[in-house]
Amino acid sequence: MCNIALIGFGGVGKSFVKLLQLKKDLLPEDIKLKYVIKSDGGIYNKDGLDIDELIKYTNSDNEIQNHPLWSDVKFKDILKNKDIDILIELTSTNIVNGEPGYTHIKESLENKINVVTGNKGPILLYYHELKNLAERNNLYLKIGCTTGGALPSVNVGTTDVLGAQVTEIIGVLNGTTNFILEEMVKCKIEYKEALKKAQDLKIAEKDPSLDVLGFDTAIKIAILSKVIWDVDFEFDKLNIQGITNIKLKDLLLEYFSGNKTKLIGRAFYLNNKFEFEVKPMLIDKDHPLYFVDGKNKGVHYKTDILGDITVTGGASSPLNAAAAILRDLIYIIESGRK
Ligand SMILES: NC(=O)c1ccc[n+]([C@@H]2O[C@H](COP(=O)([O-])OP(=O)(O)OC[C@H]3O[C@@H](n4cnc5c(N)ncnc54)[C@H](OP(=O)(O)O)[C@@H]3O)[C@@H](O)[C@H]2O)c1
Repeated sequence: MCNIALIGFGGVGKSFVKLLQLKKDLLPEDIKLKYVIKSDGGIYNKDGLDIDELIKYTNSDNEIQNHPLWSDVKFKDILKNKDIDILIELTSTNIVNGEPGYTHIKESLENKINVVTGNKGPILLYYHELKNLAERNNLYLKIGCTTGGALPSVNVGTTDVLGAQVTEIIGVLNGTTNFILEEMVKCKIEYKEALKKAQDLKIAEKDPSLDVLGFDTAIKIAILSKVIWDVDFEFDKLNIQGITNIKLKDLLLEYFSGNKTKLIGRAFYLNNKFEFEVKPMLIDKDHPLYFVDGKNKGVHYKTDILGDITVTGGASSPLNAAAAILRDLIYIIESGRK
């Protein structure tokens, strides 16, 4: 259960390789990372890549194309060689058709390969199909990283509430917008200035639309809804609002009345009634999500017999996201050894 391929060697993929080295004492001695694949090629060693050597290529000034084993190895070679047990899928998220992640995940599961992914696109669009495929083939499809990176939102909303029914999910699931709203109040600046600050600090992307228009939050709440309730719905028809129209004076007014404005994703499901919304909402200081500050995230579950459960933390960073991937990888390895 310890032969791995990594597809996608961006911020999270590189951090994952760093964690393989940092956490090697927690991993089985016979673990082998055999492939690292990007869009234009990759590296492959059937006996396992040298992680200490690979670390040199996780710095932005040393491209992996300079690695002595660099070749035109592709995803299809993984399927042809049949020499891995687990695929780590970390290619870019695409919510239009889920590609290339959808094909990577689907074909891996069809070829008896377990999958760990942080790629939200294929999970948002094809979760039920992929989950059924994994179950039919007795495989794992682990997606903890897709709904808040390091925040253990999937685990808490599923295995940790076994026996109870989650009736409502309320989440602050986008660290970028949370940072921007807090910065507006803290520094008394308008949205545009706070966004620029977030971009200068590399917290917000150059094109921040996915975050600031509320889509990233919506994707995460939608995935949690699918995983926890097995509901199906059309993402395009959901009610989604972002933070771009928020004015400083309104934030301050609420702040001095004891409330914080946060971009909240909320979904409710009971007796086949499904409600879904993403919009800026007021959170008063008695609510556990009031204290989710900066780049942190939080999710609050209402349940029928376990009461309300909140988990917070998991600030956004590639290393934290990679740690969520490592968490799912270790879960599969440990389960395979039982
Ligand atoms: N960054 C975070 O904190 C975070 C948190 C949670 C989840 N995620 C998700 O994790 C995934 C990876 O994130 P990231 O920040 O590492 O993204 P990234 O820096 O944009 O890296 C994406 C990687 O995917 C590769 N890729 C794209 N198309 C490919 C293809 N057809 N075949 C093989 N490789 C391909 C790219 O290779 P090229 O450079 O050659 O194109 C690049 O190495 C994304 O889906 C993201 O949404 C990220």
